[in-house]
Amino acid sequence: MVKVLHLALFATLLISFATSDESGTSGGSDQSDSSDSGSKPLGKSKENKKHEVSNDIDCDEPNPTNKCTCDFTDGLRNLNSLYCNACQQSIFLQWEQLIESSILVNINWTVAQRIIQVYYSYQQFAKSNPDIDSILKYKSIKSYGLNLFLVKDLQSVAYSFADETIASTILLDGSNNCNLFDALRSAANSCGASTTTSATTTTSGGSTTPSACSGSTTASSGGSTTSGGSTSGGSSTTSGGSTTSGVSSTTSPTPSTTTSAPLNCSSLSSNVNVLISQITVILQNVNLTTSSQLVQIYVLLNNFFIANPGSQSLFFSVQISGFYSIQSFFDVSFKYQQSTTISTILIGDFSTSPLLLALESAYKSAFQNPNVPIVIAEELQAFYDTINAIFISTSDTNQRLKQFSLEYYQFVKDLPGIQQYLDDLKLIVSGSSWGFLSDLIFISADIVFPQVDNTQIDSLISPSSSWNQTILVQAFYSTYTNWNKTYNFHNYGWGTTQWAIFRTAYLNNNISLIISSTTLSNRQKHQRIFAVLQIFISAYVQQQFFYCIPLGSFGTLADYKKVVQTSPAWNCEIPRECFNDRNSLIIIQSDNSTLFTNGWNNFTSNLSPADKAQVQPFTNNIFNIIYGPVPPGGPDQQISQVVTQIQNCKAAVPLRAPDVDNILVGKWGHLKKFQDCQGTATITQYPS
Ligand SMILES: *[C@@H]1O[C@H](CO)[C@@H](O)[C@H](O)[C@H]1NC(C)=O
Ligand SMILES: *[C@@H]1O[C@H](CO)[C@@H](O)[C@H](O)[C@H]1NC(C)=O
Ligand SMILES: *[C@@H]1O[C@H](CO)[C@@H](O)[C@H](O)[C@H]1NC(C)=O
Ligand SMILES: *[C@@H]1O[C@H](CO)[C@@H](O)[C@H](O)[C@H]1NC(C)=O
Ligand SMILES: *[C@@H]1O[C@H](CO)[C@@H](O)[C@H](O)[C@H]1NC(C)=O
Ligand SMILES: *[C@@H]1O[C@H](CO)[C@@H](O)[C@H](O)[C@H]1NC(C)=O
Ligand SMILES: *[C@@H]1O[C@H](CO)[C@@H](O)[C@H](O)[C@H]1NC(C)=O
Ligand SMILES: *[C@@H]1O[C@H](CO)[C@@H](O)[C@H](O)[C@H]1NC(C)=O
Repeated sequence: MVKVLHLALFATLLISFATSDESGTSGGSDQSDSSDSGSKPLGKSKENKKHEVSNDIDCDEPNPTNKCTCDFTDGLRNLNSLYCNACQQSIFLQWEQLIESSILVNINWTVAQRIIQVYYSYQQFAKSNPDIDSILKYKSIKSYGLNLFLVKDLQSVAYSFADETIASTILLDGSNNCNLFDALRSAANSCGASTTTSATTTTSGGSTTPSACSGSTTASSGGSTTSGGSTSGGSSTTSGGSTTSGVSSTTSPTPSTTTSAPLNCSSLSSNVNVLISQITVILQNVNLTTSSQLVQIYVLLNNFFIANPGSQSLFFSVQISGFYSIQSFFDVSFKYQQSTTISTILIGDFSTSPLLLALESAYKSAFQNPNVPIVIAEELQAFYDTINAIFISTSDTNQRLKQFSLEYYQFVKDLPGIQQYLDDLKLIVSGSSWGFLSDLIFISADIVFPQVDNTQIDSLISPSSSWNQTILVQAFYSTYTNWNKTYNFHNYGWGTTQWAIFRTAYLNNNISLIISSTTLSNRQKHQRIFAVLQIFISAYVQQQFFYCIPLGSFGTLADYKKVVQTSPAWNCEIPRECFNDRNSLIIIQSDNSTLFTNGWNNFTSNLSPADKAQVQPFTNNIFNIIYGPVPPGGPDQQISQVVTQIQNCKAAVPLRAPDVDNILVGKWGHLKKFQDCQGTATITQYPS
């Protein structure tokens, strides 16, 4: 009981986040941990966590190359050398080099797109090399003493990134088309077109072929498995999925075309058209939330794959413009589908609840397993007791889920090695599998209770006595002062008319009364504010701009809405690092340099005299902007002017344009990203 209290106490202190933070390895030898323990704040919002991941996978090399040095690749190499035998190391290293050269170095893709592709590539790798996967799955990727995340958590990170933009794939345009439909049609059209297409990429699971290393631990094949991954570096236009076959082929034949019957291409495109018309009906139904639309689309897609045997692997590898693949759409929408039945896991008591039964079986089998240390089994039992106590204290399934998630995050944080005994637990509802405990955790954090730090939202509208001094209202004001001109903020801004209407009719006359009200609760205030904003944006404003309005250090307006949990969900698709962090690149340091100008100087110093002369005027302009007087729009406006100069320079010296895109500024990223941030929501930078 003492332990139960101890855990419950922790939970009340915790601000939770989506992926566990400082999970170490499950084994002992953890020399690097001590150096950095306690250096990170306890709680981290999911968004900050993702922002960190973005930085982890951004390459440090300034020039076109097929190598990518970053915390993530460093961490993968560390893992490999720590835990794998020689044979496994060589296979893993090939995969690692492959993702470097085909995915990570491709700055045409957003970091989100890169990490999603890395995940699917790893999934393929794991299928071909189950022995290596079972060694590494629950190991923490560590670099320079920092724990990035568990190998296994690649999945939740990738899903979480994909989830950010999934809504945009089903946004109907004026002619009732959307990106998902284009992808479905293109999949149908590619049927039979080519024998080598992706059929090998995404097999539906089942058969795991033994890895090359299984059996002989001392396999001497290190040298013989030749450089499958390091084919000529330039050919990186291939998708993450199809390139992985390069690795597999060196190990064993890929388990391609597993069970698939031959696909009937002649009926496929008419069947796809039927599917599209069914989805259209769902998307046109204004009464449905995006979440429930995704659920229904998932069901239709699943039925379609069953009715058209062999179609799944063909469709899965097709890319959706602005997203990743149909597979990742399917995977993430499945989470929404699972979320509709999440309460079935959480009803009942110790004798009936699928969650409690799974946790009970976990500690019982741990006690019986001689390979599991007794102290682990005891902790698992204490965890079970804690969750059981929660179930006894409330029958509200939402409350149970919330409290369970909090306990889970604290538990795996305190005892990093424990996650492997929990995440793969099967949750059984009425005799059939609902999913895994890790699904429950992901769905709780990303779909049911999207976790932004919800302790802060009241502060956005306080003090109510001076409504126009609140963070929320001040943030609206600054959008006008700073972003009056459309080029200042990611290519968006207020029109004068829009702003006048917003300020008078909505802000001054309506939201002011809501915030100042002495009778409404804060919760009611939050909800009413969004009811008003929803009315406004449906009529007037560029929605992407509105979703992304930053609210001080809290996050964006979309994050605020997620906490308030009113429908429809808003998503800001501009990556976090495009906000304030980008501005810090032009801050003048004590040595009178800036991260931006350092990177730029590095580029110009390597130019031929002729090129240098052509670039010089743009260099001068950029320095004048950065070192000149700060314009009314502040750093946002300076950045926007610098971007214009970069683009002019590329146009004037086209042969050096790729080098310009590849200039690395600080550790923030490349100039390609720097420019993309200026118009993230309008540009298309998709896996080709
Ligand atoms: C990036 O995009 C540019 C322009 O579309 C293209 O020329 C280049 O080959 C792409 N780079 C990679 C690595 O795909
Ligand atoms: C393929 O579909 C077409 C149209 O539905 C049908 O006429 C044909 O018999 C099917 N072929 C096979 C081999 O099933
Ligand atoms: C949406 O809801 C309204 C009011 O409940 C109802 O009248 C309308 O028929 C619904 N529309 C659809 C497409 O279900
Ligand atoms: C802020 O609101 C108060 C009370 O409504 C009003 O008197 C004051 O003029 C407002 N200030 C600005 C800058 O709008
Ligand atoms: C916004 O732009 C309009 C038109 O360019 C201009 O008249 C107005 O003064 C600007 N407002 C601010 C606050 O800069
Ligand atoms: C604000 O606007 C909404 C929508 O028009 C309206 O229903 C509500 O009564 C208004 N609230 C106040 C306080 O004026
Ligand atoms: C700082 O650097 C800029 C650009 O090179 C230069 O114009 C300026 O004079 C420098 N300022 C000082 C104080 O050295
Ligand atoms: C300049 O580029 C070289 C490689 O081309 C790199 O090693 C060096 O770190 C860069 N320096 C700066 C300040 O970015």
